[in-house]
Amino acid sequence: MFVRRIAVIGTGYVGLTTGACLASLGHDVVCADVDEQKIAKLRRGEVPILEPGLAELVTEGMAAGRLKFVVGARNAIAPQGDSDDPIEVVFLCVPTPMGEGGAADLAAVEAVAHEVRDLLPRGCVVVNKSTVPVGTAARTKQLLGRRDVAVVSNPEFLREGSAVHDFLNPDRIVVGCDQQDAAERVAALYSRLGAPTLLTDAASSEMVKYAANCFLAMKLSYVNAMAELCERLGADVHEVTEGMGYDRRIGQAFLKPGPGWGGSCLPKDTHALMQISEAAGFDFALLTASLETNERQSGRMVDKVRAAVGGSLANKRIGLLGLTFKAGTDDLRDSPALTVAAALRAEGAELSAYDPGCSGEVPGMTDGITVADEVTAIAKDADAIVVLTEWPEFRALDWPALAKVAANRTVVDTRNLLDPDVLRRAGFSWVGVGCR
Ligand code: UDX
Repeated sequence: MFVRRIAVIGTGYVGLTTGACLASLGHDVVCADVDEQKIAKLRRGEVPILEPGLAELVTEGMAAGRLKFVVGARNAIAPQGDSDDPIEVVFLCVPTPMGEGGAADLAAVEAVAHEVRDLLPRGCVVVNKSTVPVGTAARTKQLLGRRDVAVVSNPEFLREGSAVHDFLNPDRIVVGCDQQDAAERVAALYSRLGAPTLLTDAASSEMVKYAANCFLAMKLSYVNAMAELCERLGADVHEVTEGMGYDRRIGQAFLKPGPGWGGSCLPKDTHALMQISEAAGFDFALLTASLETNERQSGRMVDKVRAAVGGSLANKRIGLLGLTFKAGTDDLRDSPALTVAAALRAEGAELSAYDPGCSGEVPGMTDGITVADEVTAIAKDADAIVVLTEWPEFRALDWPALAKVAANRTVVDTRNLLDPDVLRRAGFSWVGVGCR
């Protein structure tokens, strides 16, 4: 395998994981970020995000001299010392948040392109890992204005909470470029992983990411709609999804109903694909329906809580279990738990919450919610306890002890996480999703 000199611009979830994992594959990696404090922490070996295995890889990479951190893209690309070989591959891992009207905001990609265009070594390859609209590789190539520099699309498919595992054990590697040799050079970086590799054109590669994430969102909306129908007809969605999932064309994954899908990717990508479709004059009705179903889902959860506390949420004390968008992460961005919480609060409920990934209130995110550092505080005098995130440890809580302190022994389990029999034995009534 060739060892390459790589720069990774952006040290968020995607960039830091990419940098640390590429270093673990033997490459020589320098990661850059505009945030000086973040870089200072990383240099001390402190990893600012909760991602299993990442801190270890960062420590190992630094100790082996294969992973460095610098402030600013310019410093990652300019030679670090006289003995350093030039950077051969530059990964762009900067945020592409949802901008006006749902379109991806490419300001960060454009800013980096401007900053580095004259510094890039001859013949190097720029790789876009951020999820970007179809056509961005071509646009980046234009912005760089360098004939000798190829721009490649290489979307990431990392789930938060298992990003390192997903990087090192990918289902597939997708690399797209209108110059085959550049695509092959990028694909070769991953050769040790032995994953199926699709080499394609840049536009198709950029579309794969949207196609995959929007399909997952649609799958979840389908399951959430199915759960509602099961409730109406007296069927049990667990049994239904198990029966569906044995069909290998469907599979068991991504079939769990919940309070709606969220996180930093699925909502952003579905809105962006809607926008892309509209701009192309295409009415993507399936996608519109998936989004509408998701918006309805949080409202359905609020209906369940309201019904569980007797028809009005005004001044009711609600204890929330979970705030993050899924278990195993500290990420609150676009969390369906926060959507449900905001709606409960709008109807006058008093909210307290416990989440193993959140150690306190986060301004702008958890406003109006008292975040406790242990679970009894949220159960005490609660009119209802509502499970919003599927943290496995909630299953093992001392439910009989919580029953003693709660004002009203009701649990609304929007993730169907808990064992209803355990809850009922503890004296709680249990309400799930898509089942009786
Ligand atoms: C997702 C994609 O899975 C990943 O491939 C892509 O690169 C980034 O977006 P992530 O945002 O980390 O990853 O979350 P994921 O694990 O996919 O969950 C997304 C949302 O769906 C969460 O809110 C989760 O709780 C929900 N979900 C997931 C369900 O409600 N039920 C399920 O069965 C699975």
